[in-house]
Amino acid sequence: MTTTSSSTGSLKVGLIGHTGNIGSALLPRLLDAHRAGQIELLILHREGSDLSKIPSTIEKRIIQLDEHGREINRAAVDGVEILISTVADPALASQTYLLDALHEADSHKKTLKTFIHSDFGVSWTPEEIRRIPKLKDLVPVKANLVNRAKDLGVPITDIRIGLLDSFFFSLKFLGTDAKSNKIELFRGALHNPIRLTTLDYLSRSVLRLITEETEALDGRTIHVFDKSPTGQELVDALTAIHGSEPAIVEYTEARFDQNSKTTETISAISTGLKFKWGENSWGEGEVYSGHGHDGESLEEIIKRYL
Ligand SMILES: NC(=O)c1ccc[n+]([C@@H]2O[C@H](COP(=O)([O-])OP(=O)(O)OC[C@H]3O[C@@H](n4cnc5c(N)ncnc54)[C@H](OP(=O)(O)O)[C@@H]3O)[C@@H](O)[C@H]2O)c1
Repeated sequence: MTTTSSSTGSLKVGLIGHTGNIGSALLPRLLDAHRAGQIELLILHREGSDLSKIPSTIEKRIIQLDEHGREINRAAVDGVEILISTVADPALASQTYLLDALHEADSHKKTLKTFIHSDFGVSWTPEEIRRIPKLKDLVPVKANLVNRAKDLGVPITDIRIGLLDSFFFSLKFLGTDAKSNKIELFRGALHNPIRLTTLDYLSRSVLRLITEETEALDGRTIHVFDKSPTGQELVDALTAIHGSEPAIVEYTEARFDQNSKTTETISAISTGLKFKWGENSWGEGEVYSGHGHDGESLEEIIKRYL
């Protein structure tokens, strides 16, 4: 069900982080929805953000996610019905200033349907965090934010996406390299699915969720991914594309043990995702998959990265 703002007739959607990996992918679809009158898009940005891709017809509001930004942030979130944050990892904790602003602004007006915070990750288990201690840099930050929102009574939604397809096929985040026809597998990955999300599918899904399930988003953890191939399905797709089987490299237990001790967050995430794929431990939760997707096949996606 869609709820509309009484002043404009459209759902007021605020986007933070429009220049980033995730935010820049959401932006064009939200702009299209704005032009179509489906939503009223507001861009919330910090002073100095690049606004060159934002049309002059779109309202822009400044945010300042620190202890001096209280009044600015309160004005920025005023009247917003859906707030989407895609801020970078180093700024995750500072979203607490947004919660304060939403709490203060919304305690007067009850307009907010939900705050989609900057998650866009996976559901980590306590076992994974124990085995890969550097995950503690990231996972508790996101969890603490959700707990704080609940304490304040601010509606909040987690959207989890597995791994972006570009990270998997092009950035070789899990060791697989589509271009050089190589796949890296850990434990049961040959038979287990890896959750991959294209930015097109993510933006389509976010728009559908906020416009079709506006009133029902609070408190949900929604897993959004459009492809979940097993290692074997990836081998088959790469074989079909290259005309020869990919080199299959085993990611050994010794490498896993070594990489689990990493002191870098990115490496911890990559090691953790290898574990998830190898153990098929994507966790419980609501899967939002395949809704109205007429997108690319797995082979078409891979071909984009050759
Ligand atoms: N699952 C996956 O494969 C995957 C991949 C990538 C990211 N993620 C997750 O997605 C989320 C977004 O990551 P991303 O890679 O899109 O981030 P990013 O590309 O680093 O984007 C950063 C955005 O955050 C904004 N920002 C940074 N610090 C800010 C601050 N203090 N106040 C306000 N805005 C600030 C930047 O604004 P300016 O324009 O002002 O610089 C920029 O628009 C994170 O939670 C990350 O963990 C998941």
